Amino acid sequence: MHLIEAQKIITSDPKHARAPHAAEYSHGSAFTQGAYKPIEQGVVPITDSGFIHADAAYDVVSASAGYIFRMEDHIKRFTASCEKFALVNPYTEEQTVEILNNLVKLTGLKDAYIWWAVTRGELSDSDRVKLEYVNKFYAFVTPYMFIHGDEMRTRGAKVKISTDYLRIPETSVDPTAKNFHWMDMKLSILEARTAGAEWSVLLDAKGNLTEAPGCNIFIIKDDTLKTPNSGCLEGITRQTVFELAEELGLRLEVTKVPSEELLEADEAFLTSTAGGVMPVSFVDGRSLGGQNGPGELTTQLHNLYWEKRWNGWLGEAIDYETPFSVSAG
Ligand SMILES: Cc1ncc(COP(=O)(O)O)c(C=O)c1O
Repeated sequence: MHLIEAQKIITSDPKHARAPHAAEYSHGSAFTQGAYKPIEQGVVPITDSGFIHADAAYDVVSASAGYIFRMEDHIKRFTASCEKFALVNPYTEEQTVEILNNLVKLTGLKDAYIWWAVTRGELSDSDRVKLEYVNKFYAFVTPYMFIHGDEMRTRGAKVKISTDYLRIPETSVDPTAKNFHWMDMKLSILEARTAGAEWSVLLDAKGNLTEAPGCNIFIIKDDTLKTPNSGCLEGITRQTVFELAEELGLRLEVTKVPSEELLEADEAFLTSTAGGVMPVSFVDGRSLGGQNGPGELTTQLHNLYWEKRWNGWLGEAIDYETPFSVSAG
């Protein structure tokens, strides 16, 4: 079985062709300071605590073939992230969904990357002691992005287990609340690149796998899938893989996964809203399972993920036809 070239398909198949849209939204759309704008005009005030202190919760959902995937699950996770960080979304869940749908409609995109956040915002006066903030909502939509494109996914990524950085401890920043603390992940990518790899995997202080930059990680050994049970975001794509694994009759363990198990795995893959299922072929320079390229089960999961999504699985169809008032934020 071959891994389908999902990126090529969404850029060439008419089912994914963009709906009519104003030229000013061709690069994307934004919702900032209560108004819809072309993405180039989306702004964040320089004193916003989200910008200066990473004081925010966010989420990302995607659309493919004109369907937004698992919106309810993303909204539920986002509300929980806000609660964990004592943030209050100024919009209700229903209003948030409406804004996100409107942003996609403005772009006409069938395949979209849909990002939103609530930041602590700005101090309501100059008294820093009172810490009275007005929480702010921001969102944008751009064309869908694969963090690992067709070329990398079809041969499988080369990853390095970071030795310079540990994932930020759960007791410092709760990884189950989707947050802006990316420095450990970003620097570990640079470390991986310096070592000739393409992506990184981060461990906890006990040497167990946590997650990769923007992704969860799975290993496969003797036809059993394993993924970490802590130290990571409870990814919606991870949850989707749980369901696909069940459909394929595969065993799954959500458990501690020592880093040695990744090195000895038959197959491994990363999961993210921005890329789906992303095969890993090399870990620290060693090829997994002695094979050249993605393994059989990873390939099956990858293809099933996209084929089901393109048929609207767990998706809500975007209504590109009905107009809405851009000034009503
Ligand atoms: C740190 C981290 N882990 C895992 C994921 C994957 O989560 P999801 O599948 O919900 O996109 C993300 C997504 O951006 C992430 O930022």
